[in-house]
Amino acid sequence: MYANQYGHFSDDGREYIITNPRTPKPWINVVSNGDYSFMASQTGGGCSWRGNAGQNRLTRLYQDLIKDNYGKYFYLRNVDSGKFWSITYQPTQTPYQKFEVRHGIGYSVFTYEVEDILSVMRMFVVPGDPLEILEITVTNQNSKPKRLDLTGYFEWEAGIHPDEHREFHKLFMDTAFDPAVNAIKLKKYMWGFGDKKGLGNNVDWDFTGFFAVSEPVKSFDTDKESFLGMYGNEANPAALAQPELKRHAGRFGDPVGALQNALDLGPGESKTLVYVIGCTTLGKNEIPDIVSVYEDPDSLIKKYADVNGAKKAFAAVKKLWDELLDGDRAKTPDPAFDVMTNYFAKYQAISGRIWGKTAYYQTSGGYGFRDQLQDCQIFFEAKPELAKKQLRMHAGRQFQTGDVYHWFVTYQGWGARGNCSDDLLWLPFILDSYLEETLDFDFLHEIMPFADGGEATLYEHCKRAIQKSLTRFSDRGVPLMGSHDWNDGLSAVGPAMKGESFWMSSFLYMVLKQFKRHAKLMKDHEFIGEMEEKARQIKKTFNEFGWDGEWYLMATTDAGLKLGSRENEEGKIFLMPNAWGILSELIPANRVETVVKAMKKYLLRDYGTVLNFPAFTAPRSDVGYVTRYAPGLRENGGVYTHAATWAVSAFAKAGHPDLAYKAYAGICPPNRTMDPDRYLAEPYVTCGNSDGPISPYYGRGGWSWYTGSAQWLHRVAVRDILGVRATYDGLEIDPCLPPTWNKFTYVRKFRNATYNIAVKRGTAFKIVADGKDITGRIVPDYRDGKTHEIVVTAV
Ligand code: GLC
Repeated sequence: MYANQYGHFSDDGREYIITNPRTPKPWINVVSNGDYSFMASQTGGGCSWRGNAGQNRLTRLYQDLIKDNYGKYFYLRNVDSGKFWSITYQPTQTPYQKFEVRHGIGYSVFTYEVEDILSVMRMFVVPGDPLEILEITVTNQNSKPKRLDLTGYFEWEAGIHPDEHREFHKLFMDTAFDPAVNAIKLKKYMWGFGDKKGLGNNVDWDFTGFFAVSEPVKSFDTDKESFLGMYGNEANPAALAQPELKRHAGRFGDPVGALQNALDLGPGESKTLVYVIGCTTLGKNEIPDIVSVYEDPDSLIKKYADVNGAKKAFAAVKKLWDELLDGDRAKTPDPAFDVMTNYFAKYQAISGRIWGKTAYYQTSGGYGFRDQLQDCQIFFEAKPELAKKQLRMHAGRQFQTGDVYHWFVTYQGWGARGNCSDDLLWLPFILDSYLEETLDFDFLHEIMPFADGGEATLYEHCKRAIQKSLTRFSDRGVPLMGSHDWNDGLSAVGPAMKGESFWMSSFLYMVLKQFKRHAKLMKDHEFIGEMEEKARQIKKTFNEFGWDGEWYLMATTDAGLKLGSRENEEGKIFLMPNAWGILSELIPANRVETVVKAMKKYLLRDYGTVLNFPAFTAPRSDVGYVTRYAPGLRENGGVYTHAATWAVSAFAKAGHPDLAYKAYAGICPPNRTMDPDRYLAEPYVTCGNSDGPISPYYGRGGWSWYTGSAQWLHRVAVRDILGVRATYDGLEIDPCLPPTWNKFTYVRKFRNATYNIAVKRGTAFKIVADGKDITGRIVPDYRDGKTHEIVVTAV
């Protein structure tokens, strides 16, 4: 499927198979169990971390998308000839007889063959334990016996990344070789945090790092200089010109992990060595949010650095991901749609965004308040309890005054606080969708802490977020932009708390409408009255001051200048207020077509919908850093994939299936990979942005993996194109059939029942559920643990 000169999807769509190591950019996998994670590129590059890659990086990688030269590398050596090569393309780049990398759901498999020696390395993270397994099978395909050895090598980082001072940090590290478990172990007596008294650099790194192998080693080393040689490098390490590694360990080196095993193979013979790399806590718990029990590395090593242990662990990986991805399954005439909806968008959102929180373009120390909240919607169909967990975590990062940390780190929970106008509102917004999915109204009563002390029900948390937003209005009654709105790059529009955001009008309006339902449940009549009045005001001012003739303004600046107006030379029209104006129903019916026409004319392109047009070509200090990007990049007139998904929803809602599908297909990664040297990014995950038409690299994808677009790509596909939506009363089915589709099927779990939906194009809308005609578009909420056959005729 979707084959190009670099690779293709497997027939079942669950793997991407790379057949040429020189992809136009690193094509990576981000593999996580929600605690321990690694990323790996097709060349063998990558690194590992626990908790998050910013505060607790285990192995080193300095960001370099061109060289892609940091990894956990393994070398095979022919002991008789002295020839050696890495079993991945990097670092030796040895000409090969066979190369293949399979990035799968929860694992990657690297196949390499040199001199008739075939190596297959399967890498994965063990569910529920803080370690990864690298299972390497070497086969001698030659008719002669071979005397080989296998050497694994990587650099420890152990703590905060990037470490601002490597030479300083290495002074606190301590390595040892433990022959009882064939393992190198690492300790570090300093972590860049303060102690309980607030004294900096005064706590241990609360972990043990380990690198172990299933068989007794021939030799080991833990010092970089000794392994590479002074002025040496990974492509040609000094250690591989010597019979054995030098067995350095202790406190005085530059810590790496290197293990060497002998591997003599007769003709046709295979052997499997199982390596584990992991990170267990010491359980001292000086740092809040770290597991406070001691975890024993030795028992984990014994369990998993073992051929059978690894096999069992891999079966657990399959099971975990089957459960996580099994919430819904589409079969449509568009295989790209199916592959992304069924597997890869969900996998990316969970493994990459919510759990790993890191990729080649961005390392994160924690959570974006709005980011991972939006992402957690990916759990709705299969595991809504995991979305609930995310909602709890974010509620705890809110202050008593209703505002929230814009982002917060995993360990210690601190972050950045400012006057961002929208982030606090994502709490009620995502809660509303969670309740639509689950009807878990008890959750509204759950007591949760505030970041600055005190506690209140989740209802109260959300209410305070809304109340805070209701204090942020301009004199003429438009919501303020504040530090910025969803578009972080609009960072200078309204810092003086005068500039307005018309996207905020739509977002807040939507939240007010939704939250009324919950306020009703809580009999909070006074607040309902307040919200209704504000909603009326927003509707009035949005349409009065926001209307620009053919579309709606984006904003006004602190100085009162318009942004996103026909009067502007650059940044004339923005996607956000227009798409959300339609979605929130703030835009009156008689203007919707005019707005759609403008969006189609200025924003919708072959590769998706751009965020604004024309891009800014010169920095504007009264608008913000969005204008400082090169024109066409990221939020500056690029296709910002996250927001481009909302164009799909808006076109669908406005009744334009052709435009909705065009807006979807343009950003659906497998489609883009038919032109991989233009697109560059991975075919199987979304990119954060692709260059807008003004860029000489129009259509070039960047910032892949770590983007909120993955979850939304799934959500708009199923809710807006397939038209299957959770409502309080049941499952609404109202497809927006792309012109080229005449049918599809969709299996969806919904509140303890399975809905087997078959949709066909016809002349009149009709739903038959279990043989009975349904009036309207909502299929009952069965909740009976059974499977129901739903036959839909759509027009
Ligand atoms: C980044 C941020 C996200 C923001 C978006 C648009 O993706 O993580 O929170 O909304 O940029 O600026």
